[in-house]
Amino acid sequence: MKKTSGIKVPAGDKITTNFILPLIISSFLFFSFNQAYSQKKAEGRISKEDEKKIEKIIASLSLEEKTEMLHSNSLFTSGGITRLGVDELHYDDGPHGIREEVGRHSWTPLNLTTDSATFFPTGSALAATWNPVMALIYGTAIGEEARTRGKEILLGPAINICRTPVNGRTYEYMSEDPLLNSKLVVNYIKGVQNSNVIACVKHFAVNNQETNRGTVSAELDERTLREIYLPAFKAAITEGKAGAIMSAYNKIRGTYCSENDYLLNKVLRGEWGFEGIVVSDWGGTHSTVNAALNGLDVEMGANAKTPFFGEALVNAVKEGKVSEKVVDEKVRRMLRAMFFSRQNSGSKTGTAVSTPEHNEAVYKIAGESIVLLKNSDNLLPLDLGKIKRIAVIGDNATHKHASGGFGAGVKARFEVTPLAGLISKIGSRAEIKFVQGYKPAFRADKSVSYGKLPENKPDQQLIDEAVEAARNADIAIIIGGTNHDVETEATDRTTLALPFGQDELIKAVCSVNPKTIIIIAAGGPVDLTEAMKSSNTLVYSWYNGSQGGWALADVLAGDINPSGKLPFTFPARLEDSPAHYLQTFPGENLTADYKEGILVGYRWYDTKNIKPQFCFGHGLSYTTFDYSDMKVNAESFGQDDKIEVSLKVTNTGLKEGMETVQLYVSDLSPKVLKPAKELKAFTKVKVPSGGEVIVHLTLNVSDLAYFDDKEMKWVVSPGKYKLATASSAEDIREEKEISIQ
Ligand code: BGC
Repeated sequence: MKKTSGIKVPAGDKITTNFILPLIISSFLFFSFNQAYSQKKAEGRISKEDEKKIEKIIASLSLEEKTEMLHSNSLFTSGGITRLGVDELHYDDGPHGIREEVGRHSWTPLNLTTDSATFFPTGSALAATWNPVMALIYGTAIGEEARTRGKEILLGPAINICRTPVNGRTYEYMSEDPLLNSKLVVNYIKGVQNSNVIACVKHFAVNNQETNRGTVSAELDERTLREIYLPAFKAAITEGKAGAIMSAYNKIRGTYCSENDYLLNKVLRGEWGFEGIVVSDWGGTHSTVNAALNGLDVEMGANAKTPFFGEALVNAVKEGKVSEKVVDEKVRRMLRAMFFSRQNSGSKTGTAVSTPEHNEAVYKIAGESIVLLKNSDNLLPLDLGKIKRIAVIGDNATHKHASGGFGAGVKARFEVTPLAGLISKIGSRAEIKFVQGYKPAFRADKSVSYGKLPENKPDQQLIDEAVEAARNADIAIIIGGTNHDVETEATDRTTLALPFGQDELIKAVCSVNPKTIIIIAAGGPVDLTEAMKSSNTLVYSWYNGSQGGWALADVLAGDINPSGKLPFTFPARLEDSPAHYLQTFPGENLTADYKEGILVGYRWYDTKNIKPQFCFGHGLSYTTFDYSDMKVNAESFGQDDKIEVSLKVTNTGLKEGMETVQLYVSDLSPKVLKPAKELKAFTKVKVPSGGEVIVHLTLNVSDLAYFDDKEMKWVVSPGKYKLATASSAEDIREEKEISIQ
């Protein structure tokens, strides 16, 4: 491996350059990115002339040709029009790197030499940056890679709300909070579409568990749907202008999402004005007439010979069950997608995979995502003047995570592991001894997806070796967590416990070396009870992409001051989390009753006074920040007003650092059930050591609304509200009361 002028790439890797991403990165640094970024492109618009061409094409197509465009032609394409030389549409996963090529009708990889890509930090890592600029950089880079690989539709971002901490896809998703999801998803989409690649935001909607995902029905009230599960999708469509959306596998209130008139026709198209294409999840279509009439445009993943939208759709039109106009409208949307994504092909944006700029982007994102959970002995950053021998223990020190998790895998051009990162960063200054510590057991039968989780046994011989290494070292660094045999699509975890006997390993190592740092590489919450008991130094470092190992090493060595914050709550016990407390996960008789309603994530823990292990928004720094001088622009507000909050953040420590300031709002005289508090604004700021920054947070009074499901409208009830500035959901710094008229 070698480092080049601040940009880190493995030796010998082919580098091509492009100019869009660096411009965005650098122009954002100077707070004006308009030169680099085209709003028109990012919104997926096409020209009037193209619209005319599309009408001409539709008029010339036979019914059979039209329906050919509305279903999968191969695993990752939908049909084109051979007679007119219109190529098929190319899709690919998403959401954290462009998946390797598989056969047209088989999932077996083609083993090409040309289909590697950058492994981006996964969704929960991006969310932990709490930084929409990182989402824009992410989207731009992944969009460029999709373009380069000839993909017109990226199957991402994935933004389902983290309702249960055990969801096998938590790592792909972002957060438990609709606002944090919304702010990130909008910029991710803008970045992708700026490269003329259509972002297909997924999985619409209320797809919060993998257990029985293809058959389960989510039963939830309208208020919960509107306040918790839909806002980020709404933002993706109305602000991000996503050109495509993927319907989820599950049912909502008894109807499959892919044929759900309420969801697709009434809300998505009717209320939000969505003009793009609705793509089914792979094999997630269940009917011809209902799906065609209720909003689905393209059926993906089914056997190309017998799809619901092939011959069956032709017959449905001939029998008068579906009007040809409905088919025409779907074809029109598909053609718009083709015209949009084929503009500018062959331009600079199409020449880039794993460029220095992309490597820089994933390094920055990874660096901002790492969460310092606990550092009460100030073991971090490492005092490299004093530390001579380091024991690095744990399979995740060398485990690569790019390829795992079914659909969301990437054939990474390279992936720097934590051990490689540490050796490159400090190997010349300290002796590093690596021992495996625990053995990851692999899912025995890969073809069986449900319920067959790997074994969870400690390996005494590996623990003994680890103890020996730790005893002889100045410090020990345990790098554990999960892997994609534990966190994966199609299976939920059954427990939050660290797998493979890691608690026994942690206990044994910490008992011989009190200077033990525990690093967790995983994608969702885990139970850190033993880790907290045994060690005072805990870091959470995610599945952190191609550059994850370097970012982690730079955090440990102190070159990056950690600034990640948890995008979801870590419960003290799984039973404390709402769906588990109410025993509504995974549901009974294929029905998941969302009894917790709007009390998801911190909304639940706060309102019910249940202390989590780590709260939402938690994350420490190597410096400390004081909050003072909170000011609000008025004491009393009308319904159409803006609330402007300012405060001073002072860096009271010795290092420059970044802090995410969170603004929570509580209704002090609620007319209906309200969570104890809700996140309503946040911003991340950089503050030099000893310096101060005035932070401004703005929200509309309308942001305080709840959804009145009797009147079917958003309502801000007049009364007193409390605004709280905070460093996490538990670390409230200053409060002010306001009243709304
Ligand atoms: C997943 C989608 C993915 C698709 C194609 C499905 O199983 O749910 O997220 O995009 O497969 O790989």
